[in-house]
Amino acid sequence: MTAEKCDQIVDTIFKVLIDGSKQDYIGERISQLEHCLQAASQALDAGADEETILAALLHDIGQFTTSPNQKQMICDASALNELDPGAVDGTKQISVGVTGHERIGAVYLRQLGFSEKVAALVESHVPVKRYLTAKYPEYYESLSGASKLSLKYQGGPFTQEQVDDFEKDPLYKIKVQIRQWDDAAKVVDLKVPDLEYYRPMAIRHLLEQKSQPVV
Ligand SMILES: [Fe+2]
Repeated sequence: MTAEKCDQIVDTIFKVLIDGSKQDYIGERISQLEHCLQAASQALDAGADEETILAALLHDIGQFTTSPNQKQMICDASALNELDPGAVDGTKQISVGVTGHERIGAVYLRQLGFSEKVAALVESHVPVKRYLTAKYPEYYESLSGASKLSLKYQGGPFTQEQVDDFEKDPLYKIKVQIRQWDDAAKVVDLKVPDLEYYRPMAIRHLLEQKSQPVV
């Protein structure tokens, strides 16, 4: 892939994140873009490798790459307000995210030429939530109301067999780490590096990949 093509791909994904951020981040008090930037900045501060940092930045991209008709996880606002009082107008139905956004994001990133590790880390952030809620019941209590509601659509906590299988995954610790950065990336008015900070890293990553983008 040429540097010019890589730059175009980065333009595309940044536009997806910026445009997606204009949607309401239901039940949360920061924008989707701030959330992604905060997740990435924690990975940066932790000294993570570049694939892990990019996965943290792009973990929710599947929320924004789909049409408005994409199947949404719909809940009554009253259900969210019960968990997180005053989160939304209590009379309407709300979406707490795109169904399968972790898989949609992973497929999208593979198509654009990101590495299998980046795609796998993005794909894992919902299964890790299912893992952590099974392994640590107190983890469920730490989730936001919207995240608790979406868990029901995502299959609920893992079974013991699924927990055991997940722990055999060589990437499982870093997958859990990304989920922890994801959960903590909801701080109002936190100053972190902006999107452009990650452009050289994303271009470098794409240039290193042997596979060609299919879009
Ligand atoms: Fe997230």
